[in-house]
Amino acid sequence: MKPLYLDNAATTHPKPESVYLAVMDALRSGGSPGRGVHNQAIAADRLVFETREALAELFNADNSDRFIFTENATSAINLALFGLLQSGDCIVTTSMEHNAVVRPLKELQKRGVNIVKVSADPMTGIVERADLQEACLQQKTRLLLVNHCSNVFGSIQPVSELGEWCQKHGIVFMLDGAQSAGSIPIDFKALQVDLFAAPGHKGLLGPQGTGFLYIGGGVELSPFVFGGTGADSQSPYQPKNLPERFESGTMNLPGLAGLYAALQFLQKRGVDEIRKHEVTLISKIVTGLKGMKSVNLYGTDNVMLRSNAISFNLVDRDPAEIGYFLDQQEQIRVRVGLHCAPDAHRTMGTFPAGTVRVSPGLFNTEEEIDRFLQVMHVLAHESHC
Ligand code: ALA
Repeated sequence: MKPLYLDNAATTHPKPESVYLAVMDALRSGGSPGRGVHNQAIAADRLVFETREALAELFNADNSDRFIFTENATSAINLALFGLLQSGDCIVTTSMEHNAVVRPLKELQKRGVNIVKVSADPMTGIVERADLQEACLQQKTRLLLVNHCSNVFGSIQPVSELGEWCQKHGIVFMLDGAQSAGSIPIDFKALQVDLFAAPGHKGLLGPQGTGFLYIGGGVELSPFVFGGTGADSQSPYQPKNLPERFESGTMNLPGLAGLYAALQFLQKRGVDEIRKHEVTLISKIVTGLKGMKSVNLYGTDNVMLRSNAISFNLVDRDPAEIGYFLDQQEQIRVRVGLHCAPDAHRTMGTFPAGTVRVSPGLFNTEEEIDRFLQVMHVLAHESHC
């Protein structure tokens, strides 16, 4: 039986063939970006620059220097939160955040940062824009941080006018694009984001160990990692210029080479097209699961407000048991449990057991979704009897 990978919300698989080749090529080519002026070091430097440029093009940003490479979305979020917030500051966020936000904020709370969490609707997983705005105005808010798409329930938050509104009110606006970057068209100028964090290995189709933080003009962050950047080596101080200020240490060149190949692939295929394909698969799964009597499907009925993370449970069955069966008996890979997002599960009433999460991706076909639904149909029928 051919394995069926439906865990793209955790990491996309497979990657475009060009990504595998680029990683290997970078390892074979040698050279470290910013470390040396010989041919191979310069080629490596060029590759990193081109990757930044490709990100700026994909997200419609003017200055590629404002993209800081990180290991993943978590380290990008940490850089933003610890770099910006100080004791006495207030952050407004949502009840749909994952632990990449929840845990740094818990630590910041110990250091005197006030946290306000706005609840999402427990049926749809969507937060009202007006509720976010009202919460921001209750006190002097420094940062509004919104999870663009839930990694568990797929809910896409209404972020379109928030950037402009935050700017008018002197609030920094941050979007967590962990589940949206590469899967949903995103335009930084239209959204007026000040900070945007994303991994390279999910919707962007790159390798694990890559990610970035975009820091908009006018936002000042303090670094919390210090060290060599390949320039100004005579100075004991961290450089002030971007991106070097936040990129100490040797870079993950093979990872970035893979990310660059992935970004080229995305540009060619078009994020709009990818979204269209994913919406077809999402619709098929949502309709199929909704028609099964003993399935509880969570989240909104409006598939246009859903990303590729779809959560459900079978009545009276443990999600872990379903995941185990799908994996062992049917070679279907899904993720079960709390998905590192206990707050989102509390919001939707699925804590502590969690859910079964199925997440299709660009390389899944409608036939594969049919296969998944057939298996689910049998399971649901057994549960019902
Ligand atoms: N955040 C990732 C997930 O949802 C790892 O599975």
